[in-house]
Amino acid sequence: MAQHIDENLFTGPIGAEYRMLELICPNAALLARRVADRVAHWREGEKLEGLEIGCGTGVSTLPLLAGRDELHLTAIDSAAKMLDQARSHLSDRVAAGRVQFVEADALGFLRGLADASLDFVSSNYAVHNFLDDYRRETLAEIFRVLKPGGLFVNGDRYAMDDRAAHLAATQAEVRSWFQKLGAIGRYDLLEDWVAHLFSDESPEHIMYLAPALERMEAIGFSDIRVEYRDGVDTLLTAIKP
Ligand SMILES: C[S@@+](CC[C@H](N)C(=O)[O-])C[C@H]1O[C@@H](n2cnc3c(N)ncnc32)[C@H](O)[C@@H]1O
Repeated sequence: MAQHIDENLFTGPIGAEYRMLELICPNAALLARRVADRVAHWREGEKLEGLEIGCGTGVSTLPLLAGRDELHLTAIDSAAKMLDQARSHLSDRVAAGRVQFVEADALGFLRGLADASLDFVSSNYAVHNFLDDYRRETLAEIFRVLKPGGLFVNGDRYAMDDRAAHLAATQAEVRSWFQKLGAIGRYDLLEDWVAHLFSDESPEHIMYLAPALERMEAIGFSDIRVEYRDGVDTLLTAIKP
């Protein structure tokens, strides 16, 4: 029986990771579960072969595996340190052969996969980190490696098309980091997150929602849906026809 994706899933060291993510970016933690829920209830009963892009420390990988037994996953990340933590956090799933963690650059890894070889590709809070040209190529590769009828699920920051609203929301987010991380004296994390935000918000990286949806359509995806949106935090799904 698949485990219900609830709070009790995140215990031990991965629980600490999850709670820190919940503190800094509550919707990222929530979206990790929404991504997994979407996969869990998609074509129920069928065996799925999937790829997770940018698995990080495994916070988004664990609910994917727990939500569906008949699923085999390859989870990739370009950061060796993150992967080491993921392998350690999910060592039982690795030993059971449910998941393999691979240190790889997303685009390079996708290029090495055969056409129409995967049932789904998922990602949580990784694609917005990509440079825009790299992102375009990555999305086209995701389309290529999906089987016809295959699912792409992305939980991510999609910037608001209304620039003034986006700026106000970003400012509010930064203020909340100062409050939350300041309260626990984690100025090291505050520094990292603020520095990272400058990259996310830069013109080469920022992923506005409307152009992102248009791009998905241009690549050939169908049934492109925004299934959840709260500020910039978005669950986007699409099907390869
Ligand atoms: C914000 S973290 C999200 C991690 C995890 N999915 C989660 O929900 O907690 C983004 C991850 O994407 C990875 N990443 C960024 N660019 C990448 C790339 N080009 N190829 C593979 N992984 C990448 C980073 O190393 C990082 O672990």
